[in-house]
Amino acid sequence: MLSFGFPTETITEGVVKVVVPQLSAYMKKPSDYAPSKAPVFYNPVMELNRDFAVLALQTHQKLLGREVTVSEPLTGCGLRGTRFAVEVEGIKKVVVNDIKPEAAEIAGFNTKLNDVEDRVEVANEDANLFLSRHAAPRKRFDYVDVDPFGSPVPYMDSALRSLCNGGLLALTATDMAPLCGVHPRACLRKYGGVPLRTEYCHELAARLVSGCLTMMAAKHEIGVEVVFSYSIDHYVRVYAVVGYGAKVTDKSVQQMGYVLHCFSCFHRETSSGITAPIKHDCPVCGAKLSVAGPLWLGRIADKNFCSLMEKEVEERSFRQTKKLQKILSLVRNEAEAPVTYYAVDIICDKLNLPVPPQKKVLGKLREKGFQAVLTHFKSRGFRTDAPSDTVKEIVTDLATNR
Ligand SMILES: C[S@@+](CC[C@H](N)C(=O)[O-])C[C@H]1O[C@@H](n2cnc3c(N)ncnc32)[C@H](O)[C@@H]1O
Ligand SMILES: [Zn+2]
Repeated sequence: MLSFGFPTETITEGVVKVVVPQLSAYMKKPSDYAPSKAPVFYNPVMELNRDFAVLALQTHQKLLGREVTVSEPLTGCGLRGTRFAVEVEGIKKVVVNDIKPEAAEIAGFNTKLNDVEDRVEVANEDANLFLSRHAAPRKRFDYVDVDPFGSPVPYMDSALRSLCNGGLLALTATDMAPLCGVHPRACLRKYGGVPLRTEYCHELAARLVSGCLTMMAAKHEIGVEVVFSYSIDHYVRVYAVVGYGAKVTDKSVQQMGYVLHCFSCFHRETSSGITAPIKHDCPVCGAKLSVAGPLWLGRIADKNFCSLMEKEVEERSFRQTKKLQKILSLVRNEAEAPVTYYAVDIICDKLNLPVPPQKKVLGKLREKGFQAVLTHFKSRGFRTDAPSDTVKEIVTDLATNR
């Protein structure tokens, strides 16, 4: 009989078996969010997030071509860190940490349950103290996975300092209300960039997190390169490789900029550089443009990294293999497409038109010689290099069968 002083159950995820709080015991009324009510955090919905982390870490390890060290500074019941040790090849050591003693206890138990206690260390302190203790040469990690409540910003600086040159940093942000422009002032305070409530706000969220990371890394002369990012459900996730040196840092700072959006028509444009964009009105309709940023305008995924992750999916069996494959292939496909996307239903809504099939819109754009690809961010979204008035014209023609 296990006794952690609260109700627990044993679950399986990936190929591990772990003890977690019994969430049903913390659901007194339907509005209760059991993962946060339990004495130790466990959220079954984040399985996909952990699956992607396994794939990204394995890809990173293979690219480095040597054994790697890993840390999870906010671990909850140790599920993610335990999965890394069991499911990823070439792991020298994983250090998991949580501020709650109950979490550290259950995490330690789970490492033993899966016979990886020799390779998984458990710490019990504040995440910033923990990461700072690893911010010295030979103590740094090859991979740091920051998966907090809400914003990762409070841990970004120490996570960056605890990474080796060439290390991979994974960040989860669940504070979508600020990042998607519902609370713009909160976003500016936390991420140092202004969001916008547009149809592509989830992409802007990934770019704001990446931009904040870029500027925080820059002061340490660390450059970043985003190799994979996605947004699903209630969160955004960014994977970035870091590199030491002024040159790589300058290169990444040069990828900062702004997105200018017209809420009157569908026009959008980008303005590169950290200095504020020169003010001008919408070149299509003359309305005032709204500005998002400063944010990361560079690539938010690397095609090759995504392909390698796709190969890793094939080697494993996940509960949600199909979903992982679908997201990966969409992200790979849109990796080199233009910044921002359109949404057929939103265009039609604004123009008071019936919604034509998205396939036809993409087909017409390609027929006219434009690039047109789907996006994982939105089911009716697509990216194109066509000007906004051409997009509007094509959608209108198809909707009215002209
Ligand atoms: C979202 S949960 C982590 C979930 C986990 N990464 C997973 O994949 O299942 C966030 C965790 O951070 C811990 N935490 C909150 N503030 C902390 C701090 N300052 N230092 C370390 N841990 C902290 C909480 O106790 C909680 O377990
Ligand atoms: Zn306009």
